[in-house]
Amino acid sequence: IKVGVLDVPFEKGQDKSGVEIGPKSIREAGLIQKLIECCGIKDVKDYGEVKYLNNCVNAQVLNMKHYDDVISCSRELSDQVEKVIRDGRICLTLGGDHSIGIGTIHGHMKAKTEDLAVLWVDAHADLNTNRSSQSGNIHGMPLAVLAKELDYYWPPLPGADWLKCKLSLRNLAYIGLRSLDPYEHVIMHNLGIAHFDMFDIQRYGIDAVVSAALDKMDPDHNKPIHVSFDIDSLDPLEAPSTGTPVRGGLLLREGIHIMTAIYKTGRLGALDLVEVNPKIGNQSDVDRTVTAAMHIILAAFGQNRRLVKPESNDL
Ligand code: ARG
Ligand code: MN
Ligand code: MN
Ligand code: MN
Repeated sequence: IKVGVLDVPFEKGQDKSGVEIGPKSIREAGLIQKLIECCGIKDVKDYGEVKYLNNCVNAQVLNMKHYDDVISCSRELSDQVEKVIRDGRICLTLGGDHSIGIGTIHGHMKAKTEDLAVLWVDAHADLNTNRSSQSGNIHGMPLAVLAKELDYYWPPLPGADWLKCKLSLRNLAYIGLRSLDPYEHVIMHNLGIAHFDMFDIQRYGIDAVVSAALDKMDPDHNKPIHVSFDIDSLDPLEAPSTGTPVRGGLLLREGIHIMTAIYKTGRLGALDLVEVNPKIGNQSDVDRTVTAAMHIILAAFGQNRRLVKPESNDL
């Protein structure tokens, strides 16, 4: 397999400073080298940082903070992700806050097909519209922006004419949910979106939950898969340095299992790793969070922790 890595140092989808240096912290922990050494990937291309110009300055939408920045960044990101995938690579995008899911999923759809399977691993559903959101933070809205079935609930979105591909919510599955806003749960049930919360994981086990999620979002097992992994899906004991932690979450071991299962499908097309905020907590918190993110990424690209290769000079 071939991989392309994109950084999105973007923080305006929420209000805590620091998430914009998430990508840098993951890189400095040796990401590219580890992809090569631990996953045996021979071709890793670095696409660098996504930079955008705010090309709809002052465009405003009720209860959407920094709307103009989010929409401009998403547009540029969508084009970049499309390019990486058209180059024949799996696109690894390092966030940034979760509003970047708008651009990554849209770019993936442009490059391949609207008929993508999307696995959203998160403590939150990120399914608010501007009317249901209690915070006005767009990192709680990306899936509602992308959803075909929710088009009708949005007011006109200025500067978003480029946002043409839409995701059918039948192709979406959630794992890890434990903090929903009232309307999010209503929408989820009304539209029949596949969702597996912490109760399901405890009851059935993570292996059964991933298989069920894959069956629901991709019944014929033939769609390209997009995984959007919010580090706050993990328990704060595993990943404390994040802006909206919720206790009682996934163990790192469970997160790794999800990604290994995805790797084994052979159909991963793009992975987002978002919401790592190195300005939250002390050094040991940050290290724990960054190494957790690293394990998640490496598992997605086939790191096999059962296999320890002897050094050639040991033979
Ligand atoms: N549901 C809350 C909101 O709309 C929290 C969203 C948190 N999202 C995230 N990507 N961490 O503000
Ligand atoms: Mn979250
Ligand atoms: Mn439910
Ligand atoms: Mn999220």
